[in-house]
Amino acid sequence: MNLRIQSFTEYQQQYAKSVESPESFWSGIAEQFDWHKKWDKVLDWNFNDPSINWFSGAQLNITENLLDRHLKDRGDQVAFYWEPNEPSEEAKTITYRELYQEVCKLSNGMRSLGVGKGDRVCIYMPMVLESIVSILACARIGAVHSIVFAGFSATALADRINDAQAKLVITADGLNRGTKRVELKSMVDTALENCASAEHCIVLDCVHSQPAMKPGRDIDYHELIKDQSADCTAEVMNAEDLLFILYTSGSTGKPKGVVHTCGGYMVYTTYSFQNVFQYQEGDVFWCTADIGWITGHSYIVYGPLLSGATSVVFEGIPTYPDCGRFWEVCEKYKVNQFYTAPTAIRALMGEGLEVVNRSDLSSLKVIGSVGEPINEEAWIWYHENIGKKNCPVVDTWWQTETGGIMLSGLGDLSPMNPTHAGYPLPGIQPVLLDAEGKEIEENEVEGYLCVKFPWPSAIRTTYGDHDRCKNTYFSNYPGYYFTGDGAKRDSAGMYRIIGRVDDVINVSGHRFGTAEIEDAINTNEYAIESAVVGYPHDVKGQGIYAYVVVDPAKFEKEDLVKTSLIDSVSESIGRIAKPDKIQLVAGLPKTRSGKIMRRILRKIAEGEIQNFGDTSTLLDPSVVETIVQNAVK
Ligand code: WT7
Repeated sequence: MNLRIQSFTEYQQQYAKSVESPESFWSGIAEQFDWHKKWDKVLDWNFNDPSINWFSGAQLNITENLLDRHLKDRGDQVAFYWEPNEPSEEAKTITYRELYQEVCKLSNGMRSLGVGKGDRVCIYMPMVLESIVSILACARIGAVHSIVFAGFSATALADRINDAQAKLVITADGLNRGTKRVELKSMVDTALENCASAEHCIVLDCVHSQPAMKPGRDIDYHELIKDQSADCTAEVMNAEDLLFILYTSGSTGKPKGVVHTCGGYMVYTTYSFQNVFQYQEGDVFWCTADIGWITGHSYIVYGPLLSGATSVVFEGIPTYPDCGRFWEVCEKYKVNQFYTAPTAIRALMGEGLEVVNRSDLSSLKVIGSVGEPINEEAWIWYHENIGKKNCPVVDTWWQTETGGIMLSGLGDLSPMNPTHAGYPLPGIQPVLLDAEGKEIEENEVEGYLCVKFPWPSAIRTTYGDHDRCKNTYFSNYPGYYFTGDGAKRDSAGMYRIIGRVDDVINVSGHRFGTAEIEDAINTNEYAIESAVVGYPHDVKGQGIYAYVVVDPAKFEKEDLVKTSLIDSVSESIGRIAKPDKIQLVAGLPKTRSGKIMRRILRKIAEGEIQNFGDTSTLLDPSVVETIVQNAVK
């Protein structure tokens, strides 16, 4: 199926058509997939409830579109090259036919455990091919996958299993990332002490640590599949049946389960993949994300496989065994499209060009960026030294909630401008709103980035709490989807993302709510109260600065308290959320009505020690003075 736009003029024509007649635009694309039954209506929607229905009445199974469909013409084509963490370990490849067979065996195995359509399955796995098999096996039998990034703690895992009421967990004994080992199974054991819904746990042997298996609950992955048939009838799903849940952080409360559905997500991930990366038959694509994040879902698993692409899956990290690893892997597999995060680029930039120039990067055609704003310096370094000034940089802006890339250049078709994500993809209607909710027509004015018309892979609900979806995304500006980002548009119509305008921080492309980290800190015995803010960080994009009110009578050594606070965050969320800076304070700056003045704390974290703006509502100005004096540099 070739959905690739081939010139900028064609992009403009498709864009215009997608706005004038969205239904005929999207049905023309959807026609090209395999459906058991076509839709009665292409689109039925309102952003008030919200209620978004794409291809209502249609029936399909997404895995038939990404596996069965390819068997005839590309059964022996490589679907994935798997590159292990340890370069000396054997790399693996899996063809489309082999992937089909592995998925069918696991699907049958899962059905034998009584898992079926609509059941939720939590996947907590390393970056191995069996993780992808697990995802697809869920989709094949109509089970709803909920992948939890393997860097989250047992507590965070338990929260997600409970929220989704998952019936099955799929995990591995452990994983290796760089020189670090994580004992996944023991984390699952801890989590499952508090998860009544989980009846079974499938355990894959990855690091040969032979974990204890609980009889009746735990099953060895290979034992389960060994006698299963390599064919499995796919469950016929409605277009709007759930495909997956993926938890993500917001400005309040616990992470919420973003819901994506079968039909629209299938259509949009395929369309955006082929166009943004200008993927062509025979190319090798590599997205370095983890499958635990939406980038991995859409652009390691679904978009590429639906397109019949060949991709690289990498188990390790960019800095192991040294900082040349990414470039070596690019050379090894002759990667044509490379997709990574600004934080990785910034980390590697500092290591000099010797490690880059060791590898032949001449296969690269398109290089992409995702997850946070890419600063100009990193953009230029990437373009010059990785792309050798020959490859367009696609700066792709999107979100867990949008399911697919929304703003981006299309390979080498579109004009580029460093730090600008660029133009909306066909079908995407972004607007910038002012504080009153009026659409900003002028250029170069910062506004709230919203979307005024549905696209096929839009969030449908937040699992188990539709009101939360409405309140978070569809209530601030009635009639619009609100992204949480601020942005500007230039005279050429290109968008530049400024960053989050809510209490969400983006640390190395990982998204956290400040409230979520505060809650974690507040579980600590020394903590009375806390406030967390983001501050600019050279490599991570944003760092985490925590102001913690502690009772001085309770402790002697500050260092021990700080270590203990970090441990609390690691236990509640995971090491990925640990504060970079902690300041123990006697009190937080509050208004007379008791609200924490975060604006001031943000300024102090940024290194600003005066010019706090209007401080007339501040209850006790001396609190601010003390904090400034003791600020962590
Ligand atoms: C937030 C979404 C979807 C990819 C992974 C992150 C920020 C994402 C860009 C970009 C500037 C970006 C936004 C967005 N973001 N891509 N190209 N330029 N900012 O997904 O965890 O759902 O986070 O990441 O702030 O709202 P996510």
